[in-house]
Amino acid sequence: MDTVVDIEGLRRIRASLAGSFGLVPTMGALHEGHLALVRRAREECAHVGVSIFVNPAQFGPNEDLRCYPRDLERDLRLLAPLGVDLVWTPDPATVYPTDFQTWISVEDVAQPLEGIRRPGHFRGVATVVAKLFNIFTPTKAYFGQKDAQQVAVIRRMVVDLNFPIEIIVCPTVREPDGLALSSRNAYLSAEERQAAPVLFRALAAAGAAFAVGERDGEALRAAMNAVLSAEPRAQADYVSAADPASMRELDRIGDSVLVSLAVRIGRTRLIDNLLLFPEAHHAACD
Ligand code: PAJ
Repeated sequence: MDTVVDIEGLRRIRASLAGSFGLVPTMGALHEGHLALVRRAREECAHVGVSIFVNPAQFGPNEDLRCYPRDLERDLRLLAPLGVDLVWTPDPATVYPTDFQTWISVEDVAQPLEGIRRPGHFRGVATVVAKLFNIFTPTKAYFGQKDAQQVAVIRRMVVDLNFPIEIIVCPTVREPDGLALSSRNAYLSAEERQAAPVLFRALAAAGAAFAVGERDGEALRAAMNAVLSAEPRAQADYVSAADPASMRELDRIGDSVLVSLAVRIGRTRLIDNLLLFPEAHHAACD
């Protein structure tokens, strides 16, 4: 496993690797959710690259950039046994040299939900992911369903800017009680950790209503709010029942719906989602 910090070194090693190449972009503090992406890439591609870069451009001025968990040695120890060829761990000045001034703004799909609450976030994500795509030139790139709007933004960017890259989306990895793995779970106190599975319970309530035929978006949002309001430690930021590609809120649900939410538990803001399909769809896909 080669670990590289500069761009030229990365390009040199990448050029020596023939066959398909899978890229897993991360911000480090790796957990099983990240490792599932790496394993999937390993299964599907001749070579695998991982980037570890806490991207300053996607953090707002009042967000957790400074205290975001960082432990590069541990991350490399976790990656070493997985058969990763190449790990890129650049400095911010390598990714954003002095005078950097070219940004990628995906428009409508990046506006609602996380876009409103975190101005500039998806501009930072789209820009760094485009740079990673240009530097790694992967065949496939792996992202988690956990960040559903991020997936929608990147899919849009790949189509709009003609990146010859297949986007693979992997299921959300959860704790046994339903809490989605996230580097930010480390911020939770013991009591907050106990309250945190309320996100998944709220999503599951919407899923249960959908499974028995509920197709009214407002009813799904109400089902999630009812569960959240029963947990005093949880403060809903938003609940949403939206089209998974456009991220527009739905009144009437046609086929699939993305139910998603952002919730504050103490000072920690958590997000989660479920993609709901009619039973017939599952049967057709089996
Ligand atoms: P990060 O939060 O480190 O996540 C890296 C990848 O892991 C993302 O695709 C994310 O959706 C996925 N992931 C996180 N938790 C997961 C879970 N519980 N189950 C499955 N996948 C999970 O997302 C980012 O970094 C950044 O925005 C990045 C794309 C690297 C650009 O800076």
